[in-house]
Amino acid sequence: MKYLKLSLLIVLVMVVCARFSYTTIVGSAHDLKAKSYTDEVCNVCHTPHNANTTVSDAPLWDHTLATTSYGLYSSSTLDASMGQPDGTSKLCLSCHDGSVAVDNFGSSLGGADANDIISGDALIGTTLADDHPVSFIYNAGLATSDGELTDPTTANSDYEGTGTIEGTMLFGTAGSKTMECATCHDVHDPTNIPFLRASNTASAMCLTCHIK
Ligand code: HEC
Ligand code: HEC
Ligand code: HEC
Ligand code: HEC
Repeated sequence: MKYLKLSLLIVLVMVVCARFSYTTIVGSAHDLKAKSYTDEVCNVCHTPHNANTTVSDAPLWDHTLATTSYGLYSSSTLDASMGQPDGTSKLCLSCHDGSVAVDNFGSSLGGADANDIISGDALIGTTLADDHPVSFIYNAGLATSDGELTDPTTANSDYEGTGTIEGTMLFGTAGSKTMECATCHDVHDPTNIPFLRASNTASAMCLTCHIK
């Protein structure tokens, strides 16, 4: 009986470990020690000291920033007002717009070596006119003027069961919080491919905000 309990416990621990072991950045496409740029995981993007503070909301940033001026999304039905990407979206674009090499971080400026520029599907490019809009204010007012958007300040049962869109998916200061790349993506968690913050099976993530 004692051994049975012990082996059940071991199995339980193994199951729990298996469940959580692949939910971190380690070993994912964002773990760039695989590319031999570094023998660490975090330092391609973050540093504990002397971080770049020029971008609001940037968490101890250490990757060289893009200085690109982007083409923006527009449409006759768009209600939000668009500006150049800022906040955490600017951080993603520093690798994903293809203007800065992935290995340009900290003091190891690898230069614009073509081999280290993002390519293929992961290259978002410098025109965002063909991408879901980011870096705009999504508040109760926008939901009202659009008429088919969830009010981001009300409790929302579609997204992970709890919370509000404003509290869990938007960035910046309350009342004028913005939608960013990281609204839909979690750069550290490859569980929901490709690095999605929540599962988009049956478009569940889209339907969290869009009443369609
Ligand atoms: C490829 C770039 C990249 C790597 C590598 C990376 N991060 Fe991040 N991290 C970001 C970006 C971009 C943000 C801001 C967007 C967000 O909050 O989701 C962020 C936000 C954070 C935050 C603040 C927000 C939060 O989620 O709590 C912490 C803490 C953090 N990272 C820690 C780490 C640690 C620790 C590692 C290494 C194990 C790491 N990061 C590796 C890009 C990266
Ligand atoms: C330090 C550079 C860097 C930063 C900063 C960065 N990424 Fe990436 N990202 C990469 C690389 C390198 C890949 C792998 C590209 C490939 O496989 O060709 C990648 C892959 C991805 C993928 C696709 C994964 C797949 O399986 O195809 C997504 C989605 C993604 N990143 C989103 C983001 C978002 C969102 C942010 C900001 C919150 C971000 N990344 C910040 C370097 C970066
Ligand atoms: C509204 C949600 C949303 C926003 C905002 C968003 N993405 Fe995505 N992104 C997705 C979804 C969903 C996919 C997966 C698409 C698919 O598989 O067809 C994706 C795919 C990607 C990929 C992988 C491309 C591929 O075809 O594999 C990259 C890289 C990426 N996003 C980066 C970004 C960056 C950088 C930003 C900000 C400029 C951003 N995303 C903003 C939802 C979003
Ligand atoms: C966190 C909330 C949120 C998520 C998740 C989200 N969106 Fe959006 N989306 C918005 C907001 C807010 C706008 C701006 C609407 C406006 O101003 O008219 C928008 C704009 C759009 C537009 C352009 C509307 C227009 O009038 O031109 C389309 C299309 C769209 N989203 C589709 C999607 C799809 C598809 C997904 C899932 C992959 C998705 N969205 C996920 C909040 C979200």
